[in-house]
Amino acid sequence: MPVGVFDSGLGGLTVQQAIAARLPDQSVVYLGDNKHAPYGVRDHEQIYELTKAAVERLWQEGCDLVIIACNTASAVAVKRMQETWLPENKRVLGVFVPLIEAVTERQWGDNSAPREVDVKQVALFATPATVATRAFQRELAFRAIGVDVEAQPCGGLVDAMEANDLELAEALVQSHVSALLRRMPTPQAAVLGCTHYPILKDCFQNALGPNVEVYSQGTIVAKSLVDYLIRHPEFAENGGSRFLTTGDAAKVSTAATRFLGKQMEFQSA
Ligand code: DGL
Repeated sequence: MPVGVFDSGLGGLTVQQAIAARLPDQSVVYLGDNKHAPYGVRDHEQIYELTKAAVERLWQEGCDLVIIACNTASAVAVKRMQETWLPENKRVLGVFVPLIEAVTERQWGDNSAPREVDVKQVALFATPATVATRAFQRELAFRAIGVDVEAQPCGGLVDAMEANDLELAEALVQSHVSALLRRMPTPQAAVLGCTHYPILKDCFQNALGPNVEVYSQGTIVAKSLVDYLIRHPEFAENGGSRFLTTGDAAKVSTAATRFLGKQMEFQSA
């Protein structure tokens, strides 16, 4: 069956592209809830309801496994969905845990006790809603001890990227990085905790300097999916990919083509 990949808008395409590079034959249905993006400034109940509706839409496409390629929805909704809502035969996977496993040098699903890791100071860049959940710090604390996290809510950045205003987006990266460095002058690692941000990875790296290792999710999540499908081959299927949006399909196709720098074709969800 096809794997569903969901984001509030265009950002999850960075994850979908990494999945396509690792698993070129795997059928994928991508859904962008562009009509309701950005999620990062919405309250938790709204994010939960919108995420549930999107997952249900992907079930209609036959996707029993859905990757929530949105940190905001992963941080706010995934645990609650898994604990209280998800039917037995369906799976949702967030993008947060694979990233934290990479930062803390863990293998997929290694739930052993927290231990000391090399990295001691981590800068987190994410949407205001993701930062407010403190989900990153909580998940990190399950796996590592002695790591300081300084989080920067990057207000305005997703809006600028959805609007393809790269100049504004780059200016916002500069100012968010400067704000964080005033509070944590020498982080060893920086986590791009929003799937939109990998498009601006070079901009983050330049603003942070060469000594900071910048983690972004695409390749990390794609590798986790490869591992997952080896363990659960019933969720895998070869075939083509489709791109759906709750927004205006023509406008989203144009925006996605600019966002990725390659031709993209969306259909109405
Ligand atoms: N790409 C989403 C994320 O990873 C953006 C959230 C939003 O729509 O604000 O958090």
